[in-house]
Amino acid sequence: MIQFDSTHAFLNEDIASYQKQVSECHRYLMDKSGKGSDFVGWVEWPNTYDKEEFARIKTCAKRMREMCDVFIVCGIGGSYLGARAAIEMMNGLYGQQKPEIIFMGNTFSSTYIAQVMDYIKDKEVCVNVISKSGTTTETSVAFRLLKQFMETKYGAQESAKRIVATTDRARGTLKALADEKGYETFVIPDDIGGRYSVITPVGLLPIAVADIDIDAMMSGLKKAYDDMNTDDLSKNPAYQYAVSRRILQNMGKNAEMLVSYEPSMAMVAEWWKQLFGESEGKEEKGILPCSANFSTDLHSLGQFIQEGKKVLYETLLLVKEPMYDLTFPSDEENADNMNYLAGKSIDWVNKMACQGTLEAHEETGHVPNLMITIPDMSAETFGYMCYFFFRACGMTCYLLDINPFNQPGVEVYKKNMFRLLGKK
Ligand code: PA5
Repeated sequence: MIQFDSTHAFLNEDIASYQKQVSECHRYLMDKSGKGSDFVGWVEWPNTYDKEEFARIKTCAKRMREMCDVFIVCGIGGSYLGARAAIEMMNGLYGQQKPEIIFMGNTFSSTYIAQVMDYIKDKEVCVNVISKSGTTTETSVAFRLLKQFMETKYGAQESAKRIVATTDRARGTLKALADEKGYETFVIPDDIGGRYSVITPVGLLPIAVADIDIDAMMSGLKKAYDDMNTDDLSKNPAYQYAVSRRILQNMGKNAEMLVSYEPSMAMVAEWWKQLFGESEGKEEKGILPCSANFSTDLHSLGQFIQEGKKVLYETLLLVKEPMYDLTFPSDEENADNMNYLAGKSIDWVNKMACQGTLEAHEETGHVPNLMITIPDMSAETFGYMCYFFFRACGMTCYLLDINPFNQPGVEVYKKNMFRLLGKK
């Protein structure tokens, strides 16, 4: 379901020459003997996920869908990016599905928070607060406001039916609060970190509330597991991608730009940035993940990519079949001189823009291009793609001798912020 192509990347080493290292790192992932091995629960998750809880997610999602106009997902980082990526990829940026999904708890912007609170005041609302630690400040600030809003609007008893908490099985402030208030709860497994958690209730509940087929998503995940559960580099596209990244960094390329030609996949890029940035960016190592949406950003970043400092390579995340297509109409007056495209499909135009850009960046700009092609923007493909990137990320970090599953660096800002906020 995923095609990986490195033929436009000018790799100066043979991917196959990494086979021995890849086999060793594959073993770290499979027998939990590598760095951060307490957090490789996602590897076997397609086989081991709790089917009873999965059924409960579907029931809860149905209940939420019936009760509200707006469903608020309150979380940050791994506790919201994956769900948002999936929902925007599949429902589009102007999806008319009910309920509307709104994200909170991912910013301290008073303007944003106030605007959302104003927007929801006369609507029927349900809330999913998501936090593994249960103590993340952005999420806690927003959730206190939401809890008070819900209790004022609906009373304590009805609010308890409209608020769902996704958190640790037993520990943390949020779990204690949820138990005290009587919220339904879902579990974030101990051995799956935030940025790998879209395949757990963290992502599954909001995605199901958005009326996306989570059975199909999990079946895509399982297919990916079956396809990628091999250390054979010639057969594993995730590991080929992981190795290509290492070769490109050895060639001095320290930034990777994930490029999509689908605006509704912009959040997939945000999710991917967190996955690779937080997993790999430590010990002064790693590739800076950044993203662009073409052809839109060809009118901004395109100049730098073509002629600027040669610090980056592109990874094209391409979709074979668009979700919808349109035929460009003929116009009798042809005042805009656009009749040369009459009768052509807009997706064809998009694909020609992609081909022309690849040629320009590769041949004239000498920018390496990796290509990852997915068949469509379906739930099954989303599940498959997540697992592809998880495997690639685990592998590429182990090849760099990095623990892919911790994020010690993010504590520094928190420590300073807490001091300034006067937190004891
Ligand atoms: O990947 C991670 O671990 C982080 O991005 C977390 O998901 C994020 O900090 C939110 O943490 P929590 O779920 O504990 O609120």
